[in-house]
Amino acid sequence: MLAKEQNDLITLIGPSTPGGDLMRRYWQPVALSEELGTDTPIPVTVFSEALVLYRDAAGRPNLIGRYCPHRRVDLSYGRVEAGGLRCIYHGWVLAGDGRCLEQPGEPANSRYKERIRHIAYSCREAGGVILAYFGPGEPPVLPAFGFFDCAPERVWATKIHHACNYLQANEGNVDPQHLSFLHATLGAGSLYPELNSLITADVAPRLEV
Ligand code: FES
Repeated sequence: MLAKEQNDLITLIGPSTPGGDLMRRYWQPVALSEELGTDTPIPVTVFSEALVLYRDAAGRPNLIGRYCPHRRVDLSYGRVEAGGLRCIYHGWVLAGDGRCLEQPGEPANSRYKERIRHIAYSCREAGGVILAYFGPGEPPVLPAFGFFDCAPERVWATKIHHACNYLQANEGNVDPQHLSFLHATLGAGSLYPELNSLITADVAPRLEV
């Protein structure tokens, strides 16, 4: 059993936690491609950070801070326009790289927008998934997962909400013995009847790591 301090160290992933810093060094999935249309931004929360995802005119995903750097209005209500996302309150336009492109309420000769740098993260899209890099410096190369290059009809991308931390979920993922009991009823009548013989044949699997 881990002590509370050890448990916190390995499970907390908010900003400026050791676990959070480690996870931010890797590309992370933030949404399914099918969730993000061309003209409606969607709010996402990743690593305890409130963000908004939108597609630019070229169809590329962009991930920026959810709250407008002007008066903190929720940008998931914003309008997607050429160049960026327009806040519906005073009309600032925020680009996917964090620059502010327009401030309609400022005098014509104002250069105030040049001083604005909004929260923005690099995004990629592959295998029906939108991924983002939250770490310092240039993003690493995207991992060469086989499903990133498959034809769309050969890929099934999905996501599941788990009301627990990532470690608890992964403890279940590497625990095949529970399949023989918790999931034994997946067999007959389910979408995957062929699983039944697999998961009931050996109730004491030997794990090699
Ligand atoms: S609150 Fe967004 S432009 Fe003012």
